[in-house]
Amino acid sequence: MSDSDDEDIPQLSSHALAALQEFYAEQKQQSDPGGDDKYNIGIIEENWQLSQFWYSQDTALRLATEAVAAAGERGRIACVSAPSVYQKLRALHREDISVYIFEYDKRFAIYGEEYIFYDYNNPLDLPEKIATHSFDIVIADPPYLSKECLRKTSETIKYLTQGKILLCTGAVMEEEAAKLLGVKMCKFIPKHTRTLGNEFRCYVNYDSGLDHEI
Ligand SMILES: C[S@@+](CC[C@H](N)C(=O)[O-])C[C@H]1O[C@@H](n2cnc3c(N)ncnc32)[C@H](O)[C@@H]1O
Repeated sequence: MSDSDDEDIPQLSSHALAALQEFYAEQKQQSDPGGDDKYNIGIIEENWQLSQFWYSQDTALRLATEAVAAAGERGRIACVSAPSVYQKLRALHREDISVYIFEYDKRFAIYGEEYIFYDYNNPLDLPEKIATHSFDIVIADPPYLSKECLRKTSETIKYLTQGKILLCTGAVMEEEAAKLLGVKMCKFIPKHTRTLGNEFRCYVNYDSGLDHEI
């Protein structure tokens, strides 16, 4: 190529080039997030049509560490409609823990084999590799504050768990949750990245750290 050809090529300023590179990097991350970034809470934006309200970082961490403590060494944890807890567990590099994310939103399929498509309307419609009572603990946060949604989600929870249950849902569901799952309200109060209109609480059916501190 001659010098005169070079002069014909439009040149970008270093600022424009840097901005363009940043734009391409962001695009790449959104379509194929790699490394630890893919476990950041919020990397998948809330879709309110799907009743998605992500936990605050502190709450996700508290629930993840509680799940690890309850599951024990090399434990198995099922996160049912609670993707932030799954993300936090993986961000903590707990490779000794086996964890699955049961989610309706297929954007979470970026997590590969650990993602299980799940619709609470078909509570037992799960893949064969998910054996009954194969999880040490199930942590669930049903999408809707209705008796029907909690009843159907409870079928899934009871199918998956060996015993321990950590449910997060509205304070208004206390009686129904006790009836369906034998869980009781904890002192710990979960927080979200946004302020919600409904009071949220955690419920457990075992002796949990969430009940010992506020
Ligand atoms: C109230 S949010 C709980 C999320 C939790 N606070 C977190 O940060 O991980 C309800 C969850 O249910 C999921 N969901 C929506 N429709 C669903 C369906 N038909 N079956 C199962 N889960 C569903 C949403 O995608 C969302 O992750």
